[in-house]
Amino acid sequence: MRIGILTSGGDCAGLNAVMRGFVKAITAVDPKVEIYGIKDGYGGLISREYRVIEPGEFADILKLGGTILGTSRQPYKKLIFTERDKVEQMKENYRKMGLDVLVVLGGQGTHKTAAFLSGEGLNVIGLPKTIDNDIWGTDFTFGFHSAVSVATECIDRVQTTAESHGRVMIVEVMGNKAGWLTLYAGIASGADVILIPEIPYSIDKVVKAVERAEERKGFCIIAVAEGAMDESEAPLTKKERFQKRAEQGETTASNRIAKAIAERLGVETRVVVPGHIQRGGGPVPYDRVLCTQMGAYAARLAAEGRFGVTVALVGGGITCNSLADIAGKTKFVPPRHELIRAAKDIGVSFGE
Ligand code: F6P
Repeated sequence: MRIGILTSGGDCAGLNAVMRGFVKAITAVDPKVEIYGIKDGYGGLISREYRVIEPGEFADILKLGGTILGTSRQPYKKLIFTERDKVEQMKENYRKMGLDVLVVLGGQGTHKTAAFLSGEGLNVIGLPKTIDNDIWGTDFTFGFHSAVSVATECIDRVQTTAESHGRVMIVEVMGNKAGWLTLYAGIASGADVILIPEIPYSIDKVVKAVERAEERKGFCIIAVAEGAMDESEAPLTKKERFQKRAEQGETTASNRIAKAIAERLGVETRVVVPGHIQRGGGPVPYDRVLCTQMGAYAARLAAEGRFGVTVALVGGGITCNSLADIAGKTKFVPPRHELIRAAKDIGVSFGE
């Protein structure tokens, strides 16, 4: 069997661990398997940049951050609507390389392209990667828990300095559309206020919650998703929202919130943006286990010739979903999710 493997979209911890699990398991089934490591995601498939990787090279990368294959973003809409020739190149290169299977590790955009290629007759198997945890049909994506761990540690560290100075500290957590990472890290670190894109906030309510925390303990911690928005911004498109913020001199929700709190309460307020630190470094033990399970499961799918699917974690078990079913759907945080309920029960404000 000849298998092409690529990692696409924003990276995260665990990509190497999944590839290790996959290659170890598939080699056990087919010792003669050939692994073609495709460089920089779909970009490498478009330009036919790959190298034959000996299975041994995947042996020691369980804990290694990033991806040994490199990655890139190839936006789906652009590919399908304006760069269709690149799609044709991918199909042609798949055939020229003589691949039996294409294994793609990626997030939402990657899965849309994977579903499309599968529909065009390529044998594709997906694996759900992203710190955003927003891929439809899987309880968790790999990389998510590692990012939760980093974001939580950032907020924990920020808390001690907030306490020393009696300040309001706002930590901007990654997640443009879905607030899973902010929700988990916010709860794990005991944040007073958690703001996520799925629950538009009222700045008055946020200020009130900060005031209460200040009165009670003299400092306040706010976890804000980068895609958080206030009630007036919610009906706007992303472009309109950014334009409105730019006109007001603040480009992010965090800075707008910080300004409002400082002006209305006269409390020193700081914004901390951990950014790509949340994607860097190796996977936490939870992800190492999940990656190994998912990689091994993908090998089983390849060996059994089950294509057009992506691996998923459902109710504690590993299974798979049809690419066509999940592509293009986003797993948002349901506003009535039990975690939100629990957080509210212990007094966390969502700015509502
Ligand atoms: O999709 C993962 C993610 O880390 C998002 O949370 C974030 O908004 C985005 O990627 C950042 O992308 P880039 O690495 O291109 O700056």
